[in-house]
Amino acid sequence: MPLSIIILAAGQGRRMKSSRPKVVHVLAGRPLLQHVVDSTRLLAPEQVMIVIGHQAEQVRQVMRGQELCFIDQPEQLGTGHAVAQCLGELDAGNDILVLVGDVPLIRAETLAQLVKHSSASAVGILSFEPVNAFGYGRIVRSEDGNVEAIVEHKDCSEAQLSIIESSSGIIYIRGDRVGELVSGLNNDNAQGEYYLTDVVSRAATSGEQVCAMICADADEVTGVNNQQQLARVETLYRARQAESLMDQGAKLYDPLRIDIRGELSVGSDVEIDINCVFEGLVSLGDRVRIGANCVIRNSTIAADSEIKPMTSIDEAIIGSHVSIGPFARVRPGTECADNAKIGNFVEIKKAYIGAGSKVNHLSYIGDTEMGKDVNIGAGTITCNYDGANKFKTIIEDGVFIGSDTQLVAPVKISRNATIGAGSTITRDTPADKLTLSRSKQLTMDNWTRPKKK
Ligand code: UD1
Ligand code: MG
Repeated sequence: MPLSIIILAAGQGRRMKSSRPKVVHVLAGRPLLQHVVDSTRLLAPEQVMIVIGHQAEQVRQVMRGQELCFIDQPEQLGTGHAVAQCLGELDAGNDILVLVGDVPLIRAETLAQLVKHSSASAVGILSFEPVNAFGYGRIVRSEDGNVEAIVEHKDCSEAQLSIIESSSGIIYIRGDRVGELVSGLNNDNAQGEYYLTDVVSRAATSGEQVCAMICADADEVTGVNNQQQLARVETLYRARQAESLMDQGAKLYDPLRIDIRGELSVGSDVEIDINCVFEGLVSLGDRVRIGANCVIRNSTIAADSEIKPMTSIDEAIIGSHVSIGPFARVRPGTECADNAKIGNFVEIKKAYIGAGSKVNHLSYIGDTEMGKDVNIGAGTITCNYDGANKFKTIIEDGVFIGSDTQLVAPVKISRNATIGAGSTITRDTPADKLTLSRSKQLTMDNWTRPKKK
């Protein structure tokens, strides 16, 4: 049967003590809700419906640009009530899988297993064995082990409170049973809420099979209800990412000290030193080495390149055998061809650095097109901005720029030109010649240092 997924995200999350709705809080660079949405991909659902209510507009805004169907639940009367709001939009006959917006570490593989396991049953639940079951609904089984009910913590008897097996909140309901099981829920319980979890006892008492799959890794179903749990989930997520990188052969100097807020792909024999942050889509080629404390965002770095410590790279394409840093800042729109070298305290913005070219020390190169085998002396600045508009600097192959030079754009330095140190270049310079602009050196014979009066 085709599958419809319902994600519950209408609650406020009071315990976060935040003015923002819980599901928009960020885990590894993505909202909690986005993690849950992404976990549904493997299942190829026919529909994904997200129930929103508290600060619904903010949730919509954060999730914009995706094909998602939002269902309003202006009054949050319980998880069962939330699912009932979806019945009108639900493709009739579809099986449903209900996920909770505050359980972001759930793996797509686990959900696929749950659906497969459950398909012969009217209802399937994902249970787990938490270290501390406080607050969770408990799984009540008969003597022969059949699941009879989920009893919410606040409704538990003394004896039921000692049950460890708990509800993850994630529930599958077979298509032909959805309508009746969900619309027949009542709110006759300790919290006066319509509990979705009551579909279990409703199905069981009418003699239908309920299947429970115990989630082997309890961490996967950790819920986020407060800032401490959010931090814990971040730690778990980080460990998961680090493990996957090491499985791909990457050497991490300390797997506890790496942050991946997006997707990092690695070639073979990649080495990553401590405290690096990777954001968005980053790809590292074979044998790339990343020094300590680097932040790399939406960039590609080709084979055998080295990024030295304390370097920031943002939206750049880096060729192979390139060396960048330490203490370099590579800004959006930069492309470094093979064998280029960017040294310490250098800022590059929206520039093409040709093959084998070097910008080794203390420079700003912006809006520049640089050929190959260029050498930029220390302290060289491209003056690309007149306060209103930006202009381009063109530096052709083989150029040598002496130290402490200002290139006032728009300006072109032709092939193999040499610029004398300390020059301020305001006009195009010819190929193969030495150009310099500086006053002659003088020594004053009759000059004495001023004295204090
Ligand atoms: C729920 C389960 C509990 C399980 C626990 C696991 C029920 C009744 N209980 O309890 O068995 O052990 O999750 O974490 O399902 N929501 C709505 N509309 C509402 C109410 C809630 O969209 O009217 C959303 C919330 O935003 C949240 C999710 O449903 O994302 C779960 O609600 P929450 O109040 O956190 O339920 P728990 O008490 O955690
Ligand atoms: Mg919860």
